[in-house]
Amino acid sequence: MSLSLSAEQPAVPDVADDGVWLECIECGETFAPFDDVRYTCDECGGLLEVRYADLPTFDDFEGHGVWRYAAALPFEAGVSIQEGATPLYEVPRLEDEIGIEALRIKHEGMNPTGSFKDRGMTVGVQVAKELGVGRLACASTGNTSAALAAYGTRGDMETLVLLPAGKVAAGKIAQASLHDARILEVDGNFDACLDIVQELAAKGEVYLLNSLNPFRLEGQKTIGLEILEGFLTDYDTVPDRIVLPVGNAGNTSALYKAFRELVQAGELDEDDVPKLTGVQADGAAPMVEAIENDADEVRRWDDVETRATAIRIGNPVNAPKAIPGIRETGGTAVAVSDEEITDAQRALAREGIGVEPASAASVAGLRKLRASGVVDDDERVACLTTGHLLKDPDAAAAAGGDPEPVPADTDDILEHLQQ
Ligand code: F0G
Repeated sequence: MSLSLSAEQPAVPDVADDGVWLECIECGETFAPFDDVRYTCDECGGLLEVRYADLPTFDDFEGHGVWRYAAALPFEAGVSIQEGATPLYEVPRLEDEIGIEALRIKHEGMNPTGSFKDRGMTVGVQVAKELGVGRLACASTGNTSAALAAYGTRGDMETLVLLPAGKVAAGKIAQASLHDARILEVDGNFDACLDIVQELAAKGEVYLLNSLNPFRLEGQKTIGLEILEGFLTDYDTVPDRIVLPVGNAGNTSALYKAFRELVQAGELDEDDVPKLTGVQADGAAPMVEAIENDADEVRRWDDVETRATAIRIGNPVNAPKAIPGIRETGGTAVAVSDEEITDAQRALAREGIGVEPASAASVAGLRKLRASGVVDDDERVACLTTGHLLKDPDAAAAAGGDPEPVPADTDDILEHLQQ
């Protein structure tokens, strides 16, 4: 199977361009990377992956941010706003409370537009330039639209975003709006928006930059590479486990691909690959259902609901890439309630780390898996927090304490503070 950790590096096909090509994960068909616009396999409709003749080694990485990892990417540079190089915070109180050997928070909210999506867009928008397409588009629960708008306009391209009406956090719409995207509020959920934008892309109306686009995931691999380098520097070993929120399962797929390529390059031992552990909200947990039932296919959930609007997704399009990643690394998937998500958001906030609800799902999931004994006390774990607190100011205000109205008078305020 092409997605197994022990898969051999494939032979370079004739269609390769400068050692880069696209390959179908289902039937193995190969395609030239930049000749035509294509998101899935022409032969069987399967998902595509970017493949390289030369695999990266740790010694190849130099510089700062996403483009430090150019050796693992299709280009030397892209349309950039200095994405990546996000903090890997220590959280001593949370580490103690959860009761594990080490816990670090990889805070992707510290990217230029406040989420990990920037890592995918710096590569994806560069591909759009290579292809010479006009209008870029995505369906989004919010963060992809903010990143697409910012990177698209920086690359001097038009952007169109389809958002589920009433279900996108305020900060994200504000970003898409100010960065000059044309915003369509669709009377339907995210999965319906994605169906439509795929149809628009198939008609040649737009270039699709959802994570179905295999080049987006190349940029997102760098999250995994940064976590490995951070742990190697601080602990002289890679993490035992990486816990991350799951929506379309793009990050799960991307991290797995990063690790697979390092294993193929002989840079990482197969047994040392971190256990990929996905977390979904109870009300939108099709991946968890598939992992728990040991199913090969994910059942689409038509009715999804959660306070973590970023991961309010019932049809994770990257599941065929992500499920092997979770299984082959010995990871798992778990669902958490909205209350558990908000509790974790508060716990992170007490450590000074402000995240949006979907991000806190990773910590909520780790807590749950530690309590049930799935995670051992001797594990070193990285939790991914995917978006910044200010993305969803309403959720933050609801989770925090209320402001107290007082008169503009020092004595009155002193008296008020006694209460
Ligand atoms: N966390 C946040 C904050 C997100 O915005 C998303 C996805 C995820 C996690 C899930 O990541 O899809 O790689 O499993 N947001 C997309 C969007 C769907 O439109 O912004 P995944």
